[in-house]
Amino acid sequence: MKGVVLAGGLGTRLFPLTKVTNKHLLPVYDKPMVHYPIQCLVNAGISDILIVTGGNSAGDFLQLLGNGADFGLKDFNYTYQQGEGGIADALKLAEHFADGEKIVVVLGDNIIEGNIKKAVDDFRAQEKGGKILLKEVSDPERFGVATVDSAGKVAKIVEKPKDPESNLAVIGIYMYDSTVFEFINGLEPSGRGELEITDVNNLYINKGTMTSEVLEGWWTDAGTFESLLRASSMVAKGGANKLELQG
Ligand code: DAU
Repeated sequence: MKGVVLAGGLGTRLFPLTKVTNKHLLPVYDKPMVHYPIQCLVNAGISDILIVTGGNSAGDFLQLLGNGADFGLKDFNYTYQQGEGGIADALKLAEHFADGEKIVVVLGDNIIEGNIKKAVDDFRAQEKGGKILLKEVSDPERFGVATVDSAGKVAKIVEKPKDPESNLAVIGIYMYDSTVFEFINGLEPSGRGELEITDVNNLYINKGTMTSEVLEGWWTDAGTFESLLRASSMVAKGGANKLELQG
């Protein structure tokens, strides 16, 4: 299985910090933000990784991450997203890299405490489809929100609902088979002009091939001033996915 870290977009919610740099290069406690999603993949046993970047300072990713040796990797793959067309638009750039294999996608501003290795192994054994991870939150209106049916299956996801039907956020770690690129190619931009990952996930749900798990341990995004501060303090207090760089 291959891994994709999505670190594109313009990070406008963090202006003026992101006027001169890329959001994913900003510090979260003692490391640049992008280190955490990369380490999350490495800890799950994934070593073939594509970084999709974009916006400002894309060249700095090369300088920071190089060939991946700090993470014990032999190499990194990089590509560049023009503009801010949405998460699914950024993922579209991974089609060639994925080359028909299953992928694990981690949003560049998502940080978790634990390890997703078991979920990744479960998905490896899953015949087809996708898998999402859910987490109870107190502010579901900020996220994709899952409605779970009486059998415990996700029935639908609504992106940033005004009146959330549950407090289960869909976190920014997604596992897909190669159908994902067919789904993305058929998407229309949403009201906010983006290709939405929630639309992709709903297509899997409607086909009956999406599974889900509730994530153990803490999870946070870091794309607003409040969540960036929270991410730093959670990492400082509790560590994040055993981030011990080599070298
Ligand atoms: O954090 C989890 C949430 O992430 C999910 O619950 C939502 O369903 C999902 O839509 C997303 O919501 P956000 O509004 O928080 O996503 P944001 O626009 O902040 O983008 C998150 C990351 O995705 C960002 O750090 C980099 C990547 N991205 C985003 C956009 C818009 C790209 O690579 N390219 C893009 O054009």
